[in-house]
Amino acid sequence: MIPLRLSEIRDIVGGTLAGDGADVVVDGAVVTDTREAVPGSLYVARVGEHADGHDYIPSAVEHGAVAALTTRPVDGLPCVVVDDVQAAFVALSRHVVEGVDGLVVIGITGSSGKTSTKDLLAGVLAGVGETVAPVGSLNSEVGVPLTVCRVTPTTRFLIVEMGARGIGHIRYLTEIAPPRIGAVLNVGTAHMGEFGSKEAIARAKSELVAALPAEGVAVLNVDDPAVAAMSAATEARIVGTSAAGAPEATVRATDVTLDEAARATFTLITPEGRAPVTLGLHGAHHVANALTVAAIARECGLSLPDIAAGLGAGRPVSRWRMEVTERPDGVTIVNDAYNANPDSMRAALSALEGMGGQRRTWAVLGSMLELGPDSDAEHAAIGAEAARRGVDRLVVVGEMARPMVDGATQAAEEAGARLEATFVADADAAHDLLVDEITSGDVVLFKSSRDAGLRLLGDRLTQMEVPE
Ligand SMILES: Nc1ncnc2c1ncn2[C@@H]1O[C@H](COP(=O)(O)OP(=O)(O)OP(=O)(O)O)[C@@H](O)[C@H]1O
Ligand SMILES: [Mg+2]
Repeated sequence: MIPLRLSEIRDIVGGTLAGDGADVVVDGAVVTDTREAVPGSLYVARVGEHADGHDYIPSAVEHGAVAALTTRPVDGLPCVVVDDVQAAFVALSRHVVEGVDGLVVIGITGSSGKTSTKDLLAGVLAGVGETVAPVGSLNSEVGVPLTVCRVTPTTRFLIVEMGARGIGHIRYLTEIAPPRIGAVLNVGTAHMGEFGSKEAIARAKSELVAALPAEGVAVLNVDDPAVAAMSAATEARIVGTSAAGAPEATVRATDVTLDEAARATFTLITPEGRAPVTLGLHGAHHVANALTVAAIARECGLSLPDIAAGLGAGRPVSRWRMEVTERPDGVTIVNDAYNANPDSMRAALSALEGMGGQRRTWAVLGSMLELGPDSDAEHAAIGAEAARRGVDRLVVVGEMARPMVDGATQAAEEAGARLEATFVADADAAHDLLVDEITSGDVVLFKSSRDAGLRLLGDRLTQMEVPE
């Protein structure tokens, strides 16, 4: 946080002061969860569906918060009282962004890979300047201001993950932290239920590049036609990326190969030359993410050797994204069950195929949420994809995912593949089946939407006591 007196915060957000605190200085983290407060914190008391943040003031005090942003005076802390806490939080964030000279704001959006890309980018940029990036996947109207308020007077790079569940959401986030560099990774079908169509999803993502100034830079993945088309939506200079090596892309990859753990090696090509890169992240889809990172880092002034070295040094940061664990008994657990949509399911199955080789592969797959009326068909198509990717054992977990079984069985028959598909009602049933049947040498992928809980099942299998 940039240190601010409470009287300054009052003026920035247009509120009134309650309690004796005009000269109190906020210099600790701004938090919406009192448990995260530290000495010097400002506690933003939001009113949610289930809880009223104003009830947690004592906990904020206990953790060291020195002030609160509220809609009514409270006991125990001096506060700035406003009509609309969210609007005030946005105004405060905007002030922080504008108050730091030379701060480069970078926005990242896309249907899949935002968090993976921001983690990799944060690692690369941290080598050359103080970098603030979201914790985990904080990408909403609350997560973005929380991240922005971590900026200090010496921060050089602010990376903002921008998620959308509807039209206008990303534009709103760009008003909180106006980016100079904006990257769009891909347009998939995540949150199709809310958007209604892929065109609407593309329109929502394009709000990021539409918000860029003329002197800004739009990093667009030209391998995705819906992303490439966004060049028409921005005044900014376009920098194209292509994991397929498309020559029109400014930053591209050729000679992509995968090792036995599905880590990619490729030649990175930029206008400055070529450099070999080997990623520490699992899955071919990370090549596209890495190129986006390379294009952004290049705009931030990094040299090609520094970019290549930084990409190679990246390791999984946020949990349950293609987390690969080798168990002592020779079983490989691949836990990618942070979340799932059809595109990330396909990416994970492709990585599983790459890691399988001669080994037996298991895909333990749960539901993909928010797919709307196409839900059954999308699940069936993922079952079919598993069969095409040579999965030996498919375990389908939970009622919503059940159509995967038929999709897989049918595709396996057509392809003459030997896939065996099993339906189980829940993660516990899957656990019992797996404990009985997985054996040394197997590769087991876990993948589902967050609510299906397979990431925890993956953890149980990873931590399972196994004979040496
Ligand atoms: N470029 C990509 N294309 C397809 N799938 C990807 C890509 N990058 C990452 N993934 C996969 O997508 C899933 C989500 O990755 P990640 O958390 O990085 O995405 P996100 O866009 O931040 O998601 P969310 O919208 O949930 O915040 C993971 O399973 C990951 O392995
Ligand atoms: Mg994310």
